[in-house]
Amino acid sequence: MKNILVTGGAGYIGSHAVVELLDSGYNVIVLDNLENGYIELVDKRAKFYKGDIRKIESFENIFIENKIDAVMNFAGYIKVGESVIEPNKYYLNNTYGVMNVVEVMKKYNVKNIIFSSTAAVYGEVKCEGLVYEDYPTNPINAYGMSKLMAEKIITDAAKAYGINYSIFRYFNVGGAHEKYEIGQKGDGVTALIPIILQVAKGEREKISIYGDDYPTKDGTGIRDYIHVVDLVKAHVAALPTLFENISGIYNLGNGTGFSVLEMIDSAKKVTNKNIEIEVIERRMGDPASVVASSEHARKILGWKPVYTNVDDIIKTAWNWYKKL
Ligand SMILES: NC(=O)c1ccc[n+]([C@@H]2O[C@H](COP(=O)([O-])OP(=O)(O)OC[C@H]3O[C@@H](n4cnc5c(N)ncnc54)[C@H](O)[C@@H]3O)[C@@H](O)[C@H]2O)c1
Repeated sequence: MKNILVTGGAGYIGSHAVVELLDSGYNVIVLDNLENGYIELVDKRAKFYKGDIRKIESFENIFIENKIDAVMNFAGYIKVGESVIEPNKYYLNNTYGVMNVVEVMKKYNVKNIIFSSTAAVYGEVKCEGLVYEDYPTNPINAYGMSKLMAEKIITDAAKAYGINYSIFRYFNVGGAHEKYEIGQKGDGVTALIPIILQVAKGEREKISIYGDDYPTKDGTGIRDYIHVVDLVKAHVAALPTLFENISGIYNLGNGTGFSVLEMIDSAKKVTNKNIEIEVIERRMGDPASVVASSEHARKILGWKPVYTNVDDIIKTAWNWYKKL
């Protein structure tokens, strides 16, 4: 049985990766500092270590005590707005932290890494059609830049130390597991689906829509939403490719765009609640439409998303979130 180290495994996406790995027959070891993660989200079948990727001495023991076959790095900070105010916080965790992980991998001869990157590496997307992996990278905030720099650290390590990588650029991740009691906790989250559901649950008065005069079907911004279980399944599908020394950078999205108003309408239908909206000024740098091509992941990993209907994505998120 192969041993997979999941950093950030107590977080939203990491906890979903843990159960999918376990259900696929891998041994799972989790490293998390529990700053934004929750021990109750970590499946009991996994071995848990508390440590911090910013401090090698806090996690090196994992590599001494276990023979790690691959690392999945989910640990990091995720708030775009905060990254603009506190860029160093993001570079320290999302960039330097990843360098530490790679350094320890090198020391203990671990050859495979899967890395959570983001569509934010593309910056202000100006294409009408789908975004492919060769779209120029030009992040407009420290979050996107911290991830792009981490990508570079990994691809350089691949060349220099013979490390194989799957770098996944996520678009908007949503939903919750249907089989396990895990999902996205709402506190401080800035993603659209949790905010809409907070309004539906009465925890927030209304949702602000940043501009309704974009050149889109209803004037609101269009984005690509991928279900968290589909997303982590791509990670599990990438492992055999790494073990065959195949590396790659892959966009992960649904391939279909939904407008903010469509998302709100869907949430109204799913939750059967009224969702108050207010339209405010556009946000600087927000493009009209960003939709992923995941053709590369489909082709190389033999993967495809199952939750293609946005109602189903919101339904799984609501079923989890309403119980919190
Ligand atoms: N949620 C999204 O839509 C989205 C989109 C693009 C990329 N990503 C990336 O996916 C990854 C996971 O995101 P998430 O939504 O699950 O976030 P999350 O905050 O729920 O999970 C991150 C986890 O990492 C842990 N962590 C943070 N810094 C750490 C450190 N220095 N050492 C050890 N553990 C640390 C946190 O405690 C938390 O459990 C992140 O790297 C994020 O940038 C997420």
